[in-house]
Amino acid sequence: MSGDYATRNPLRAGLRLRRTPEPLALVIFGITGDLTGRKLLPSLYRLYAEGALPTGFSMVGVARRDWTHDDCRAMVRGALDEHLGEPVNARLWDGFAETVRFCPGQFGDKATYTRLCDILEEADQERVHTGNRLFYLAAPPSSYSDIIEGLGTSGLAGMREKPGWSRIVVEKPFGHDLPSARRLNEELAEYFKEEQVYRIDHYLGKETVQNILVFRLANAIFEPVWNRRYVDHVQITVAEDLGVEGRGGYYEEAGAMRDIIQNHVLQLLALVAMEPPAGFGEGPVRDEKIKILRSLRPLVGEEVDSAVVRGQYVSGLSGGETVPGYREEKGVAGDSITETFAAMRVFIDSWRWADVPFYLRTGKRLAKRATEVAIQFKRPPLLLFGAEAAAELEPNVLAMHIQPDEGITLKFGSKVPGPVVHVHQVNMDFHYGTSFGVHTADAYERLLIDCMLGDSTLFTRNDGVEAAWAFVDPIIDRWRTPDYPPPLPYESGSWGPSGAERLVDRDVRQWRRL
Ligand code: BG6
Repeated sequence: MSGDYATRNPLRAGLRLRRTPEPLALVIFGITGDLTGRKLLPSLYRLYAEGALPTGFSMVGVARRDWTHDDCRAMVRGALDEHLGEPVNARLWDGFAETVRFCPGQFGDKATYTRLCDILEEADQERVHTGNRLFYLAAPPSSYSDIIEGLGTSGLAGMREKPGWSRIVVEKPFGHDLPSARRLNEELAEYFKEEQVYRIDHYLGKETVQNILVFRLANAIFEPVWNRRYVDHVQITVAEDLGVEGRGGYYEEAGAMRDIIQNHVLQLLALVAMEPPAGFGEGPVRDEKIKILRSLRPLVGEEVDSAVVRGQYVSGLSGGETVPGYREEKGVAGDSITETFAAMRVFIDSWRWADVPFYLRTGKRLAKRATEVAIQFKRPPLLLFGAEAAAELEPNVLAMHIQPDEGITLKFGSKVPGPVVHVHQVNMDFHYGTSFGVHTADAYERLLIDCMLGDSTLFTRNDGVEAAWAFVDPIIDRWRTPDYPPPLPYESGSWGPSGAERLVDRDVRQWRRL
């Protein structure tokens, strides 16, 4: 199936997607993995169902299994049945299944890439491709070097005589600190040009995250107050109610700082704080975001102790059930000091934001799932309505609800009807569901289409990833100093350790209750 994505789905497609990608083959390393099953395959199926994929699109899974193409198709079907969230349409399935091929092999084995070349040639002939290939690294990061080298030395990376483009999508985690991220960037640069590399951060594909910039820059009334003169502080929260969900082994090495702050939270921060770009293309947007990451006031040594709080969940109530503590999770050490919660106060040393605190927090097993960016404005300069009314006056807050109840709320004071002046806080609300009435596309659908189209605006550039690591590394280093206090325990189902309150209390502010 093919068709024009924007014509069929004007709301989902947005303004930028006016094209269907050129015919291509998508190669997924790690076709049997968790991310592929939960996110990539359902997104690809949905794109196929909407006619957003080009005619003749094909997909090749690579894994260390002794499988035939049909075995791989059966695995894909199983993943869709489990994760699509709706029944697979029988008629669509036949066509979708035809796109799937399988290439068995070890990622570090040269023969795998020779085999892959043959399978891709075959697919090109059968499905009228033009030699375009998109390689997706959804395998464990420890295999990235092997895959990059295999693609490079086999000529698949694109340094070849044949026509068509090659691009590579790299999933997070992109390194585990600055030196390893640099090494990975160097390995990629050996065989791929920077414009061929798509470092994915799925938060940037979320509709509500993209709307941060549109909201700021497509409306004349907000940008003039988006600065230190009017903004008191900003809070960014990425709260999850789930625990580590069987990913204990990975999480032990990551922790909240590497898993969420280094990427998703800092990307949200950059979008909220960046200067208006000179244009909406990949160069200007990414340039402005990186300036913010580089203007973050570093937190080093003892500064970390007062500006950052880390926590770890213990057993408690989540969704009405008693859940185990982090140290009881599978794959987690009984004496683990990995943080499952992190909160911090950061400053951006820029003309626009000097001295405006940005409070960031994230955690697993918190009271609910809620991702939000809240801009709290300063109080009015004069409180004219008498002491009683003044005491009731709360500051204006603009809250951008990223998920799950996608929308934007502006909180302001209003007079309660009656003979005396009483001020009450009221909300002006915008809900995506009510205004647009459509289900918003999964972030992966948007990002997959973007890399097929060659649009890297929503992907992170090499310097952006490195700037984010340069900020978080000294914090993690500080936590590693001998005898450093362990993370503060917090009950599952709570809002994190009480120690996180001190970050805001001392500034006479409060965390938002979500
Ligand atoms: C991933 C993290 O990047 O984002 C997970 O590795 C986390 O630990 C997930 O649960 C959250 O994504 P979302 O889209 O559910 O907010």
